[in-house]
Amino acid sequence: MDVTARLPFEQRVLQVAPELRELRSRGTVHRVRTALGDQAWLVTGHAQVRQLLDDHRLGRTHPTPETAARTGETLFDGLLGDFATEVADHARLRSLLQPHFSPKRMRPLRPRVEALTARLLDDMAEHGSPADFHAAVAVPLPILVICALLGVPYEDCEQFRAWTAEAADVRDAARSKRGVGELFRYGNDLVARKRVEPGDDVISRLCATEGVSDDEIAGLAMALLFAGQETTVVQTGLGALLLLTNRDQWQALVNDPALVANAVEEILRASGTGGGGIPRYARQDLEIDETTIRAGELVLLDNGSANHDPAAFPDPDRMDVTRSAAAHVTFGYGIRYCLGAPLARIELQAVFGQLVTRFPTLRLAVDVDALRTRHDAVTGGLAELPVRW
Ligand code: HEM
Repeated sequence: MDVTARLPFEQRVLQVAPELRELRSRGTVHRVRTALGDQAWLVTGHAQVRQLLDDHRLGRTHPTPETAARTGETLFDGLLGDFATEVADHARLRSLLQPHFSPKRMRPLRPRVEALTARLLDDMAEHGSPADFHAAVAVPLPILVICALLGVPYEDCEQFRAWTAEAADVRDAARSKRGVGELFRYGNDLVARKRVEPGDDVISRLCATEGVSDDEIAGLAMALLFAGQETTVVQTGLGALLLLTNRDQWQALVNDPALVANAVEEILRASGTGGGGIPRYARQDLEIDETTIRAGELVLLDNGSANHDPAAFPDPDRMDVTRSAAAHVTFGYGIRYCLGAPLARIELQAVFGQLVTRFPTLRLAVDVDALRTRHDAVTGGLAELPVRW
């Protein structure tokens, strides 16, 4: 099949790229080239993305990584782990991490997240209008929450955040490597400390789990950090932007904050507008929507595009905090469904619940078109969100 498009698409914040719209009008599985010029499949339909997300015939590894098509050049672009042991390694990762996200573990975290959010909003209020919501809340909250989850002392959080930002720099592989190295060193030190002085946190509980080495615990802690940090920053920033640019929806939440949990699902659905997505490699030949994908090929499961598929969400470009949006695939689907989704939901509900009650007159301080977006981070998103109240 011929290549029909090249990534990345020309994109404006919160808008589906015209090129992607055109591509989608022609089907659900498309031959594309990545930013590096490698060939890949871009899957854009909701049903197809969901089906492949839950399909064991696709994975994150490649039998000959040096020949694999790539989306970019950093540590995070597609390839993750060893082809021969992937299935067993992934099962172990889930079995070790899943217990820490159970309702029983999440319950005591909610008031802590609420309190951390309140503190950041206090600081924003004290700073006064106008302020940068992104720097004041969206960036610091997820790292503070992960530090609380892992048991990283509060005073180390800022340093921890700086290393994470380095590690996630997609433009500078050396900087990214340095950040990862620092995080592992810190993680190993922390594990050693928790072995001596355990607390009520994930690292301490992993230390108490039979057959888990210090290195493995440090690795799992870093996996949580990478999976849960930038993703939540991006959703918090874009969520606020979505609400502030859809004034009637903001007002609906101000009038009825009980809508916040539902609004968070709509924010998760509407914020990603596609043009990339979750990378996979076919472990064997497979068919999807009359297209044959060959073993070893790169497949991009475009969850942002899936979330805007009119077959799954009527009038998908309209933001509606009362819509039933729970079938979104922002947290993935099936075998690799986001383990941290319950925690991410707690964070987003805390932020938007408190924001509409404490700052009912909040509005954007600049024109949407003047907003700067990030190109240096793995997950994209905003660089700033100036607001007034
Ligand atoms: C709004 C914020 C978040 C979004 C949008 C998000 C999104 C995702 C997605 C799409 C996946 C599936 C990736 C795949 O299929 O390959 C995933 C997996 C994962 N997420 Fe999240 N995530 C968020 C927050 C978090 C948080 C806060 C944590 C933990 C602190 C977390 C931990 C994980 C882990 C451990 C996995 C791997 C699951 C597996 O491989 O089986 N995530 N996340």
